[in-house]
Amino acid sequence: MGGNWKMNTTRAEARSLVGELLAELDGLRGVDIVILPPAPWLADAHDLLAGSTLRLGAQHAHWERAGAYTGAVSAHQLAGVVDHVLVGHSERRRLFHESDGATARLLSATLEAGLSPLLAVGETAGEREASETGAVLRRQLLAAVEGLERLDGRVAVAYEPVWAIGSGESATPSQAEEGCSIVRRVVAERFGPEAAARCRVLYGGSVSAANAAELALLPSVDGALVGGASLRAAEFAAICRALAASGAG
Ligand code: 13P
Repeated sequence: MGGNWKMNTTRAEARSLVGELLAELDGLRGVDIVILPPAPWLADAHDLLAGSTLRLGAQHAHWERAGAYTGAVSAHQLAGVVDHVLVGHSERRRLFHESDGATARLLSATLEAGLSPLLAVGETAGEREASETGAVLRRQLLAAVEGLERLDGRVAVAYEPVWAIGSGESATPSQAEEGCSIVRRVVAERFGPEAAARCRVLYGGSVSAANAAELALLPSVDGALVGGASLRAAEFAAICRALAASGAG
């Protein structure tokens, strides 16, 4: 389970949301929970989460270790603060023009930094209408793992159809199942069936307390990457509990 806060919360709001999430979710069994606050609040969140079962992730990082990259934060710098790095989110691809090649470099850098990449892939509405969903997922996934000889067990993949993100219009269960099963099939073709069975595949896009239980029961869906609803502690906790109860997480 991932909670991607995106560019939301003041420092005070972030501290209080972490506190509420700890009260709701610390110690919950059957699901691994990662929260992804904005970069400047990561150190605070790290300290507040110390000793708990909640894990911390960064929403983005730069692949170079250090150097003249004004405004950037490297995966290497984040080691020791976070456990996970979100790689290739569609908002990074669309708003910040990040290429498949940039995604591949960050995925490798994240692994080299000792962190766990959460790779996001997903088609736009136009690509879906043109029946290109499978081809787009395959291209994004294969490009991101291009440099890897084997798929490290730390790599998880989130299928996030762009049209379902922030729209209130989640993929239907059959669309979510289809996307996640395509992801697993491509992983199997590239790295073999064991890697595919081990790889955690999440669905993301307008996940809420109302649809989480249904999504969690899908055979190809191991978890969820939640945006808007992760900013409301009670709702995010309800989604995590639905996942835990389904045995998916
Ligand atoms: P929403 O849950 O707000 O649709 O966002 C999903 C997402 O982009 C998570 O990374």
